[in-house]
Amino acid sequence: MGGEYIGRVSVRARLNEHLLQIGGHIGYNIRPSKRGKGYGNKLLELALLKAKEMEIEKVRITCDVDNVASRKIIEKNRGVLDSEIPNSETGVGKLRYWIDIS
Ligand SMILES: CC(C)(COP(=O)(O)OP(=O)(O)OC[C@H]1O[C@@H](n2cnc3c(N)ncnc32)[C@H](O)[C@@H]1OP(=O)(O)O)[C@@H](O)C(=O)NCCC(=O)NCCS
Repeated sequence: MGGEYIGRVSVRARLNEHLLQIGGHIGYNIRPSKRGKGYGNKLLELALLKAKEMEIEKVRITCDVDNVASRKIIEKNRGVLDSEIPNSETGVGKLRYWIDIS
């Protein structure tokens, strides 16, 4: 089968305390040359379907305050902002969202 690598997404079934604060259930990355074409948005849409299959009811998802593309993707996929917390690992604040998929 052919095809080329565009990006990846991971869905975590369970969160420990650190992931609840900083990482969240879903992480994604689009290859730099493929960004800005709608793939990131689609990837989160598909990941939420997967999370539902995995019987997660509320998806925790986070992004850096300055990550405009990721914020847009999360908000387009019904992300509701819960809080902003400092991240001592990077010095950049983390926005923490919930997406209710129950
Ligand atoms: C965040 C990321 C996944 C976005 O992927 P993408 O395929 O470029 O996103 P999309 O093409 O679906 O764009 C989503 C929105 O962000 C906007 N956007 C894309 N790149 C942008 C940029 N650099 N600056 C501002 N807005 C941007 C798009 O115009 C689109 O907005 P719209 O819905 O109003 O049209 C990608 O930039 C990436 O992999 N970044 C590095 C890893 C990362 O940050 N992962 C997320 C961790 S929370």
